[in-house]
Amino acid sequence: MTNTQATPNAGRSVPGPTDSTRTEQSRDPGTLELGLPVVVRDADLPARVRIHEVGARDGLQNEKSMVPVEVKAEFIARLAAAGLQTVEATSFVHPKWVPQLADAEELLPRITGLREQYPGLRLPVLVPNERGLDRALAGGADEIAVFASATESFARRNLNRSMDEVMEMFRPVISRAGEAGVPVRGYLSMCFGDPWEGPVAPEQVVAAGVRLLELGCAELSLGDTIGVATAGQVTELLAAFGRAGVPMAQLAVHFHDTYGQALANTLAALRCGVTIVDSSAGGLGGCPYAKSATGNLATEDLVWMLHGLGIETGVDLAALVATSSWLAGELGRPSPSRAVQALAGSVDAN
Ligand code: HMG
Ligand code: MG
Repeated sequence: MTNTQATPNAGRSVPGPTDSTRTEQSRDPGTLELGLPVVVRDADLPARVRIHEVGARDGLQNEKSMVPVEVKAEFIARLAAAGLQTVEATSFVHPKWVPQLADAEELLPRITGLREQYPGLRLPVLVPNERGLDRALAGGADEIAVFASATESFARRNLNRSMDEVMEMFRPVISRAGEAGVPVRGYLSMCFGDPWEGPVAPEQVVAAGVRLLELGCAELSLGDTIGVATAGQVTELLAAFGRAGVPMAQLAVHFHDTYGQALANTLAALRCGVTIVDSSAGGLGGCPYAKSATGNLATEDLVWMLHGLGIETGVDLAALVATSSWLAGELGRPSPSRAVQALAGSVDAN
């Protein structure tokens, strides 16, 4: 391990915590202004991590109240301004299954301009079937994600299909997306434990993941949908994917923080060579069709750890905390993110 200079915010130009975003009343310098977290680089970890931000989709799909489309659009714009380069925007599933995201058609035109404002910004959307693909393409989506399950029970509850039927449903979606030049991410849920079936064997997860990759997914996100995984299990599963010939560069990890294990699990995945991590601003999240799924790993908690390890993310943590504080105000409840709670007083949500 070596000490290095802190260069965590090497991304875009975003408002910093030192100017207009400090509250008038606060006389003490904020934690970030003091130069914390201390940066200690670990040569065994990647130099850069791409954060796949899922708050606007995985987070808002689980909100009890309907969030107005203008608030969603502003949330996504603020996430992009805070330096996030991949912001999963919404979902073209059946509106009766997830009414919270039934406004996907209205949302896309409000955010597509962000791609010009922030070159390289990716705004993927979730698509379950050809009907969803038609809707997404009509709205101008240029990147999609399909979502399968490593278990039969969740496949049936989430997509009303067996695992085999789900794969057959995705086949034309992925092939048509390919013809349209639209990259496809594959999600795999319940990779570590399932609320109806209990433990899930790594071989079962690898078999399902390889099917998604063979269908043409460019990237595979391994989901701990109910947050039960521990670090040894993560290492074991990633080793099993490695033995099956899947490069770590194609894998992402998607942890929910139900048992407080999400950061430890992320670190285990980084040690295995994973460089894409899913997280949700403010720790929003859950899954309406998975019993006991609570919030996702909070992006702020993740960024605090990554920047402390000298890993570049391009994210301005103060701007992100301000965004989550603002959204917490809109939702009428505090963010569960520890980093947001710790830092919120030193940044202005507006
Ligand atoms: P189904 O009832 O079997 O649908 O649901 P169907 O194929 O029988 O079609 C019935 C009707 O729905 C038809 O209309 C279709 O056109 C229409 P009709 O002909 O009767 O008038 N329909 C649609 N309408 C709009 N958009 C569509 C669509 N599809 C069909 N896309 C279906 C099957 C896949 C639609 C349903 O199960 C569904 O929408 N499920 C989504 C569940 C969901 O979104 N879950 C949360 C996301 S997954 C997650 O959060 C986990 C993740 O974060 C990773 C992790 O944490 O593990 C990704
Ligand atoms: Mg999820």
